[in-house]
Amino acid sequence: MKKKTVIITGGNSGLGYQCALNIAKNDPDYHILLACRNLKKADTAAEMLKSETGNPNISTMELDLASLSSIRMFYDAFSKADLPPLYAVVCNAGISAGGVPGEKYTKDGYEMIFGVSHLGHFLLTNLLLNLMGKSGRIVFVSSDMHNPPPFFRLKLVYDNAKAISARSSGMLQYCTSKLCNIYCSYEMARLLATKTDRQITVNAFNPGAMSDTNFIRIEGNILLQGIMRGFSRVMGVIVGKPSSSVKSGAILASLIIEPALAEMTGKYLDRGKDIKSSLLSYNKDNARELWKTSMELSKLSQSETIFGQ
Ligand SMILES: NC(=O)c1ccc[n+]([C@@H]2O[C@H](COP(=O)([O-])OP(=O)(O)OC[C@H]3O[C@@H](n4cnc5c(N)ncnc54)[C@H](OP(=O)(O)O)[C@@H]3O)[C@@H](O)[C@H]2O)c1
Repeated sequence: MKKKTVIITGGNSGLGYQCALNIAKNDPDYHILLACRNLKKADTAAEMLKSETGNPNISTMELDLASLSSIRMFYDAFSKADLPPLYAVVCNAGISAGGVPGEKYTKDGYEMIFGVSHLGHFLLTNLLLNLMGKSGRIVFVSSDMHNPPPFFRLKLVYDNAKAISARSSGMLQYCTSKLCNIYCSYEMARLLATKTDRQITVNAFNPGAMSDTNFIRIEGNILLQGIMRGFSRVMGVIVGKPSSSVKSGAILASLIIEPALAEMTGKYLDRGKDIKSSLLSYNKDNARELWKTSMELSKLSQSETIFGQ
């Protein structure tokens, strides 16, 4: 089989790293591109992956999802790079409810969690669709928290994307950004099926609670970080969705490389199992509003997309 490229955002760490490891280990037909904001970390991860798997087909490229110009620079660099044709994009990078200390907003002035998790991936995937062929796969990493359990006492409402982009960081914003990942998956899957003749699949993935990643970051306080990780493990058990980056990374990789899944699209996959997402996540008006406003916020013109007018 001819080689093809899979891009993994945030592939230097946690779930993204484990996804890359499983693809590299199990399928030599893929070139893996780690798209990361910190090239030094990405290069270190690529070297580790090569030595762990013996697969040399792993490279890195700079991508800061908190900057629209970085996303466009990545797209330009990728389109000129001498790599196999693009087959899949794993939208994995994300920021926890704690946000990024000292950086509340993206370079373009949008709240950081929403800006990275949803808006950055929205622009990236819309641009990259131009480079994908007749078939391919896109996965948006979402979370159980798109539908927070009642004891969190969070009232998740979708008002509109502009308002969401201007909110403050925090748990409610994290949950909303993960809801946006699902809206974006469902709407992209719908547009591909109704406006194009391409067999590109788009799904949302819930990895479950993984306390073995670098997701919970409390700068300079290792004790508090340990406590928070322990809390996250307990929460995973209480909510009934415990996992690890090792387990969920293998499942995420299978969504890209498993031949039997080549036609599955528009689904919410809870650690690989096709289940219903929240009632709110099926609101089509919200999904369309998010899509339309995200085009405006990310300065993406209709003519730059494969969906045309
Ligand atoms: N951990 C959990 O329990 C859990 C549960 C449900 C869903 N998830 C989701 O799983 C995904 C992966 O998280 P993880 O647990 O594996 O955490 P992680 O180890 O912290 O990985 C997150 C990745 O995102 C990258 N990232 C953050 N901001 C970025 C930006 N502006 N541009 C590009 N990359 C950026 C990080 O890069 P740096 O290393 O440079 O910071 C890192 O590579 C996230 O989408 C998260 O919401 C996690």
